[in-house]
Amino acid sequence: MKTAIYPGSFDPITNGHLDVVRRAAKLFDRVIVAVAENADKQPLFTPQERVELVQAAVRGLRGVVVDHFRGLLVDYARRKKAVAIVRGLRAVSDFEYELQFALMNRKLAPQVETIFLAPKDEYTFVSSRMIKEIARLGGNIGCFVPREVLVALRRKLSL
Ligand code: PNS
Repeated sequence: MKTAIYPGSFDPITNGHLDVVRRAAKLFDRVIVAVAENADKQPLFTPQERVELVQAAVRGLRGVVVDHFRGLLVDYARRKKAVAIVRGLRAVSDFEYELQFALMNRKLAPQVETIFLAPKDEYTFVSSRMIKEIARLGGNIGCFVPREVLVALRRKLSL
């Protein structure tokens, strides 16, 4: 039984994240989409809201479960007996931070591999940060996020 953790802020989950979840689910027996509670950033959605939105988005995907964690990712990965951490790589600009993150995590927990998955090319420019900005400014984000996220964003931003 091989478990992978797909960690992130997911503030909110996008179709790009979802594409990575689907790819990871083909490679592992169990994928835990793990919402980080202690993100440095000031999230728009609470951890509970982010978890609920991820749950709605991954409903029906076999082997995919949703959880949240605080503290070090590698400690969480060890507790869950995960063999891998999955990260999405959209572009070269992601690479520097992601490599540093992966190598630091490897130093802290050598038994946990990090694997990078590239999302479908149509999502390579999608980020939660941009989605929130476009939504705030009244732009159409319908093709970038699951329906539940669209509804939640409208409600949160009182649009
Ligand atoms: O979606 P993000 O914001 O790129 O996700 C980053 C996240 C939450 C996965 C990362 O910041 C994280 O794992 N934080 C938990 C604390 C931790 O383990 N930090 C060690 C960095 S080497």
